Amino acid sequence: MAEAYELRRGKYAKLDTPESDSGSPLRRSLDDAYRTSSDEEDLDEFDPLNYDAGTLKRKKTRRPRGESLRGQETIPSEKAGTRRRWYCVSRMCVGLTLLFVATVVLLLSVGGIWAWKSVPEDGQSPPWYPSPKGGTDEKWRDSYKKAADLVRQMTLVEKVNVTTGVGWEMEMCVGNTGAVTRLGFPSLCLQDGPIGIRFADNITAFPGGITIGATWNKDLIYKRGRAQAVEARLKGINVLLGPTMGPLGRMPAGGRNWEGFGADPVLQGIAAAQTIKGIQDEGIVATAKHFIGNEQEHFRQSWEWGTPNAISSNIDDRTLHELYAWPFAESIKAGVGSVMCSYNQVNNSYACGNSKLMNGILKDELGFQGFVQSDWLAQRSGVASALAGLDMSMPGDGLRWADGKALWGHQLTKAVLNSSVPMDRLDDMVTRIVAAWYQVGQDDKKKWPAPPEGGPNFSSWTGEKIGLLHPGSDDKTTGVVNKFVDAQGKGEDSHGKLARRVAAEGTVLVKNDGDILPLSRKGWKDAKEGQAKYRVGIFGEDSRLNENGPNNCPDRGCNVGTLAQGWGSGSVDFPYLVSPLQAIYEAFEGVAKVTDWAANKIPKEKEDLLHDQDLCLVFANSDSGEGYMQDAGIRGDRNDLNLQKNGNLLIKKVAEECGNGNGSTVVVIHAVGPVNVEFFVDLPGVKAVLLAHLPGQESGNALVDVLFGDINPSGRLPYTIAKKDEDYGPGSKILYYPNQIVPQQNFSEGLYIDYRYFDKKGIEPRYEFGFGLSYTTFHLSSLLISPKSFKKTLLPAPRPNGIEPPQFDTKVPDPSTALAPEGFQKLSKYIYPYISSVKDIKVGKYPYPPTYNTPPELSPAGGAEGGNPDLYTVVAEVSASLTNTGKVDGDAVVQLYISYPENYVDEETGEPVDFPVKVLRGFEKLHVEGGDKRAEVKFVLTRKDVSYWCTRRGNWVMPTKGSFKISVGFSSRDLPLVGTF
Ligand code: BGC
Repeated sequence: MAEAYELRRGKYAKLDTPESDSGSPLRRSLDDAYRTSSDEEDLDEFDPLNYDAGTLKRKKTRRPRGESLRGQETIPSEKAGTRRRWYCVSRMCVGLTLLFVATVVLLLSVGGIWAWKSVPEDGQSPPWYPSPKGGTDEKWRDSYKKAADLVRQMTLVEKVNVTTGVGWEMEMCVGNTGAVTRLGFPSLCLQDGPIGIRFADNITAFPGGITIGATWNKDLIYKRGRAQAVEARLKGINVLLGPTMGPLGRMPAGGRNWEGFGADPVLQGIAAAQTIKGIQDEGIVATAKHFIGNEQEHFRQSWEWGTPNAISSNIDDRTLHELYAWPFAESIKAGVGSVMCSYNQVNNSYACGNSKLMNGILKDELGFQGFVQSDWLAQRSGVASALAGLDMSMPGDGLRWADGKALWGHQLTKAVLNSSVPMDRLDDMVTRIVAAWYQVGQDDKKKWPAPPEGGPNFSSWTGEKIGLLHPGSDDKTTGVVNKFVDAQGKGEDSHGKLARRVAAEGTVLVKNDGDILPLSRKGWKDAKEGQAKYRVGIFGEDSRLNENGPNNCPDRGCNVGTLAQGWGSGSVDFPYLVSPLQAIYEAFEGVAKVTDWAANKIPKEKEDLLHDQDLCLVFANSDSGEGYMQDAGIRGDRNDLNLQKNGNLLIKKVAEECGNGNGSTVVVIHAVGPVNVEFFVDLPGVKAVLLAHLPGQESGNALVDVLFGDINPSGRLPYTIAKKDEDYGPGSKILYYPNQIVPQQNFSEGLYIDYRYFDKKGIEPRYEFGFGLSYTTFHLSSLLISPKSFKKTLLPAPRPNGIEPPQFDTKVPDPSTALAPEGFQKLSKYIYPYISSVKDIKVGKYPYPPTYNTPPELSPAGGAEGGNPDLYTVVAEVSASLTNTGKVDGDAVVQLYISYPENYVDEETGEPVDFPVKVLRGFEKLHVEGGDKRAEVKFVLTRKDVSYWCTRRGNWVMPTKGSFKISVGFSSRDLPLVGTF
């Protein structure tokens, strides 16, 4: 069972968080360490077993009575021998104690020096100030105009109200902003997430991001996004907290990789953009998360893992652009309304306080017009994060969960009044939020009526109809909090159908010896005379439901029964879950004799179930999730890539003994990402292997669709499956133990993750990125590369100027306007924008960053959403002919990879530029009927696709000398068509 550190249904266990702002928690913790090591406490009482390494503080405990060292004196005199012994013991004890004390002092000093020495240097992330204003992109012109008109009418406290969450569990959603009811601007409801509506009833539990990534089906990805948004709208949600595109999958064991779409920036970027379009076309603001470098769960957050500061992902500029920021650029190009900054630090500056990332990259270079919201408590400073480009504080609480001590709210009001945060920064924050709201059309009162008709109609905190209205506060007012609106779609539009399709298309067939699959409904192909039915055995716990129901563990934080989602904030409550067991029984009705042993250990007396079969279907899995929970020793990130719960041994046993060694075994794996299959994949009994990822509520039905060939498998691997975990390279390792007081993760492998690393090192994977089998065969021919006439220059055209952002009156209002209205009743811990007294406002000089008033040059790579529009100029079109050479209809995923000119040197400096062997730049999924039917596949390549990021120039550079290799095929290692351009 899961051990939840903090349950997300208002049952947060205590979390050790620092008192201070991020400016000094490190120093403070060091001070604490030194203080507690010598000055203040009685070392006699020091108990090493009670030493809390996490907080670097000793817990004071009293020994139980009678255990006192002085207690020796009370030993009776007739026991003189004993006394002598005691005396010796006592001397020994004193000696030992002294030795112990000396050791402790030594260790603490060494520890202190280590801690001091290992503090990373400041200034590894360059400053970028002031924050660029929103409203510079033509596509947002109208929304900004309307937003500015509204914001100009807002008072200071109304503005602040829009920027700050009201606190954890204060309203119905996981995040809720303050409303400006006077002007008709609502409280915004922000809700997870990437696979459906978290904490809600009557919704769809869609397959995980990794499953949708494995479909490589752009249309399906769009439809899934759109259906999620329909559900969000019906539930009264304004902002969906998804899609996830960071983690990207640098580390195959990364706990949250399953929320995203796969270990490649282009796959991730296209899937993210399609999802965002789907969500926003339906009128919901999408959130591209987590920006950036949140590649592992260990140490992602201050104190969550005992270290006073979060891990720093140290990423060089080129890698940042070509890998980790790429999907965010695609998301912004798709018009995303919100970006969530991540918990971790990047180059030793918190992502939510990093001016280079938010001001420089997101807002200047990528021309982001929406608002940046913090991940939940990822904001670690007040004024500093505002200046660095943060626009919304979520969930509003400050450094600790649910303590009502906001970093913004009244503090932001104060900061504006005392001139720490410039008025125009606040105006920009609010305008960005309001403009995103207009941009998706939420001002349409017919679709979005005001509460009580509109607004969220579900509660994240209770399943009851009537519940507390502000459960996080001391207010006991109740009301109807759940209206149980059915958001799942009906008939042909039922979202369950879509979920089933996604799950089936996201299932990757990697082995199919002797075409054992698809199964026939007519009977076993090797059936003996007179044997009408075939015998099928189902094995493994992963085939059945959790006996306590699929929602038994909070946030799906346990691996019991069949695995259909990972755990954490990215999970949802299943409305139902069709287990493989149930679906297979139904599918074989009248066709086969089905028996099962739905556990991972097959006792001796049940082995007949194994021996008396023609076909064995064996299930195993591998789970992971978000780092605030742990299950079976897995703290978010997986500990390795093996199947869990003895899956390997189960598969081996089944494969060897099925039908007394004559049966055929089909292995089905549900997993959050790549698993190591070496233990079983070559066993002769293993005829087929299906990687079914995380299929969501329609798990069993989707599997049956594939097993029987109702849907011809068309899933392709969105990551590489290695033969050994080490093959992914040193950069693929999770940092499980802190290597410094601020854990450091150097992304020194640069561009070489997943297949790029395997290619560079010439390592043979077990199954390569992009691989997957079908029940039919395809052939590619007639590659045609048509370069477009365009200006062949190293650099893109100069960036366009964009339009003028709205202007506001910068006069700071009178502090008295920020007082709460007379008689205003505050709820405890609720975050308000009001100051308590005008006396609190002391106007002074805020120590702005030195470069605050000398803005850096604008990036030549910027100028519009997604970057300089010239980066998206089409430089070549590529086409090919695809033939289905098999008998049955099927879908092929045709993939295009490019290789940069060989031995390329910078055309100005002559410096060599290193490139991966090849990189994915496009894919198309096509349905082609069997019997030599053909289809034409087309791709376009843009300037950005054939450029690399040059740190020196701060721009994308397109080699103009040498030729590019274009490879088109069915996987990263099966590329039959090759041409140059
Ligand atoms: C997660 C986010 C999520 C937020 C709200 C955080 O712990 O990292 O992805 O959106 O919680 O639930």
